[in-house]
Amino acid sequence: MPTDDQQAQKQRVAAAALDRVREDSILGVGSGSTVNCFIDALAASGRRIEAAVSASEATTAGLRSHGIEVRELNHVGTLDVYIDGADEFDPHHRLIKGGGGALTREKIIAAASRQFVCIVDASKRVGVLGKFPLPVEVIPMARSYVARQLVAMGGQPELRQDFVTDNGNVILDVHNMDLVDPVGVERQINNLAGVVTCGLFALRPADVVLMATDSGVEEV
Ligand code: A5P
Repeated sequence: MPTDDQQAQKQRVAAAALDRVREDSILGVGSGSTVNCFIDALAASGRRIEAAVSASEATTAGLRSHGIEVRELNHVGTLDVYIDGADEFDPHHRLIKGGGGALTREKIIAAASRQFVCIVDASKRVGVLGKFPLPVEVIPMARSYVARQLVAMGGQPELRQDFVTDNGNVILDVHNMDLVDPVGVERQINNLAGVVTCGLFALRPADVVLMATDSGVEEV
């Protein structure tokens, strides 16, 4: 659970992200608690968007509860802006995502967007990625095989209990993985048979990171 301070930071950065939203555009919207604050801020702002493309069933429900239309990515082409949170970010805007399990759809929308605006509170800043266990979405029948490969790569995978992704797959949370070369590790994990995607966003990092602090919001 976020502390009161953290919750206030999430709300502050969510409000700041409204400046990045073009009126009457189709907006990519990620998932997680910071994004939930953003959806509330967007609805309260009265700023009109044409529609949104959503990264999770939970986000879709949140958007629709405010009367915001949700469209399929296949029906809208390239998006101008994608707004999403992260579990960690480094000085090069590379991220770990997937704490909420929506990493695959998030990665697809990030890839299909011209600008990825990442909104975070200050607790997400790290020098080197990897304190947060790295989520990897896996086709269920490949779970053991992929886990063995991840061990061979130096990680300690742990099956996320009682959790199925929106795509019907499982998540392995990988502890203690050496992520000094996040681009190389992202490629290597994504190449394992049975992996849908991993939660490293290094090949396609965020373009902009907006980080809330105790006193305001800074563009990192
Ligand atoms: C969801 O799968 C994640 O990638 C979220 O973007 C990430 O976990 C950040 O979530 P919070 O905003 O809740 O910290």
